[in-house]
Parts: sequence; structure tokens; C-alpha cells
Amino acid sequence: MANLTEKISMLALSAVIVAAGVTAIVNFTDTTHQSAAATPPSGLQTETAPSAENLVFSPPKKIPKGKLGKEILRGEQIFNQTFSTVPQFVGDKLNCSSCHLDGGMDESALPLVGASTQFPEYSKRPKSFITLSERVNQCFQRSEGGKALPLGNPDLIAVDTYITWLSSDLPMYEKIPWEKNGADLTPSSTINLKDGEMIFQQVCSTCHGMQGQGGFGPPLWGPESFVKGAGMSKLKDMASFVKLNMPVYEVHGVKPGGLTIQQATDVAAYVLKHPRNVFHT
Ligand code: HEC
Ligand code: HEC
Repeated sequence: MANLTEKISMLALSAVIVAAGVTAIVNFTDTTHQSAAATPPSGLQTETAPSAENLVFSPPKKIPKGKLGKEILRGEQIFNQTFSTVPQFVGDKLNCSSCHLDGGMDESALPLVGASTQFPEYSKRPKSFITLSERVNQCFQRSEGGKALPLGNPDLIAVDTYITWLSSDLPMYEKIPWEKNGADLTPSSTINLKDGEMIFQQVCSTCHGMQGQGGFGPPLWGPESFVKGAGMSKLKDMASFVKLNMPVYEVHGVKPGGLTIQQATDVAAYVLKHPRNVFHT
């Protein structure tokens, strides 16, 4: 929590705009402050509108009291302990938070802060608009190797409520600058599987097991991992995720984010060449 507070005060600092020797503080998250900033002394240039570039990554800190709070907490529990809480809908040993780290609140690991503001959303898969529930079900079917929950299922509604709470105070249908973080780096165009294998053995196996079977970290291949057809089974997505987020702490001199994009590509390709279940509709 201390970390989060520090992060937020740093972000607030970066919102200090120095113009013509005068310092104006613009609070991008609180719209009531904008009218004050909109009437600067003449000749002074300040930024006012909360456009996409200046949306601030700031996950909510307070869970509301009462029924809504209970529903959010239930959703959070399912999100963080998915396969033990709703085993009937999960086919692997992954939690939502195995990939959407820190309950979807880690800015570099597929963050879900802001995600609900984009739904209903056009989806290329069914070529139509889908709801947040339907998007969550895509991750249940592929990333969790499981089954779609019936629409209206109380557990699905709880997960939706938690994800919606993550977007508290964010405007609807604005572009979310951090939306694709952890899935959008360009992998290297050349792949060296031997190097990938070496990195896997020296670094990844410490937590994910020599056979990718899992340990301190979740399984990376085999029947207990996500299925072929999941986002993470694409080289781009896994290489990006690994580059920004793995290892979760320093192992053999490699710090989190310490691999090069080449190394992240090589090790992702090595992981992905192993067998895993295939998605069937
Ligand atoms: C194996 C990793 C993995 C697991 C486990 C996983 N997801 Fe995802 N999820 C992804 C990836 C990759 C994306 C696509 C990111 C992108 O390209 O925007 C994604 C996207 C999403 C999105 C859409 C985000 C957006 O901005 O449009 C939602 C919502 C979501 N996941 C919810 C969940 C929920 C709920 C669970 C658990 C039931 C879950 N995910 C489990 C990897 C995973
Ligand atoms: C220090 C332990 C540690 C090391 C080393 C480590 N990981 Fe992880 N990894 C984790 C943990 C823990 C998670 C899940 C995070 C959570 O549950 O909060 C994870 C999650 C993942 C995920 C997403 C979930 C899944 O199972 O698909 C991938 C992919 C991944 N790691 C790949 C790698 C690769 C590749 C390496 C080597 C470069 C690596 N990790 C090194 C601990 C580690």
C-alpha cells in the first residue's frame, strides 16, 4: 500500500505543468478542478481537458461499504483464487491474477483498470458487440482452460462487479493508455530456441519447475496450463509479458524486467513449443 501511495504521489508530480515560469497544478482525475484551471491568467498556457494521454493510472483504494462492497470482495476472491473458488469452470491451475498480476492492478501486467469502460465492445471473434461478461468468459474458456459461465451466474456477476470497480472514476469509452501493457511489445524477429532453453533452466525453472509444471509460479505448459488459443499462447503476448514482469524477483542475477526483448522472445518461444491443451468450442 505504501508503494501504491508513492506511485500515486509521483504521478501527481508528473501532472505539474510548468508554463512561462509559473507552476500550475492540474488534477486530471477530479473534474471539479478543471474549471479553475480553465481560467488561467492571460497569456498562460495550461492543459485542461482530461484527454486520453493524461488519464492517470490510479487503481481505486476504497471498497464501498454494504452490499456492493461484499460483491466486490467476492469478485476479488474469485479473481485471485479462481481454480479453488470456482473449480467447475476452470480446467487448468491458473487464477485470473496469474496473468493480470496484483488483482489486475499492476500497470505493466495486463492491467484491468479501465477495462470495463470499453464494454460493450466490438469483438472480431463473433463479429459483433460483446459485454464484459462475455469477455470474461473468453478468458475462462481459453486462459483458464475451462467453461463459460452461464450469463447471469452470480459468480460471473461478482467478477464483473470487481472489474467494474477497478475502473472507478474513469470516463467511459476514452482510450486507456495502459490497456495493452504487457501484451504489446514487438518480439524479436529471430528466435534462438537453444538460448531460450538455457534461460528457462537458469531462471524460470526456479519457480515454474524444470518441466514447466509449476511450483512457486503457475504451470507454463502441459494440461494444467492455459490452452492453445489463449492470448498468452501468442508469442507477442508472452514475450511482452515476460519482458516486463518476469522473473517476479531477482533470480541468478536477473532482475524483474531484466531480460532483453531477444531473451524474452527466445524463452517465450521455448515455453510455447511444448504441448498444451487446445481450445474447442
Ligand atoms: C494465461 C493468462 C491469463 C489468464 C489466466 C487470464 N487472462 Fe484475461 N487476458 C489475458 C490476455 C493476454 C488478455 C489480452 C490482453 C490484450 O491484448 O489486451 C486478456 C484480456 C482480458 C480482458 C479484456 C481486457 C480489455 O482491456 O479488453 C478481461 C476483462 C480479462 N482478460 C479478464 C480475465 C478474467 C476475469 C480472468 C479469470 C477468470 C482472466 N482474464 C484470466 C490473459 C489472461
Ligand atoms: C521468482 C519466481 C519466478 C520466476 C523466476 C519466474 N516466474 Fe513467471 N511467474 C511467477 C509467479 C508467482 C507468477 C504468477 C503471479 C501470481 O500468481 O501472482 C508467474 C506468472 C508467469 C506467467 C503467466 C501465468 C502462466 O502460468 O502462464 C508466465 C507466462 C510466466 N510467469 C513466465 C515466466 C518465464 C518465461 C520466466 C523466466 C524468464 C519466469 N516466468 C520466471 C514466478 C516466477
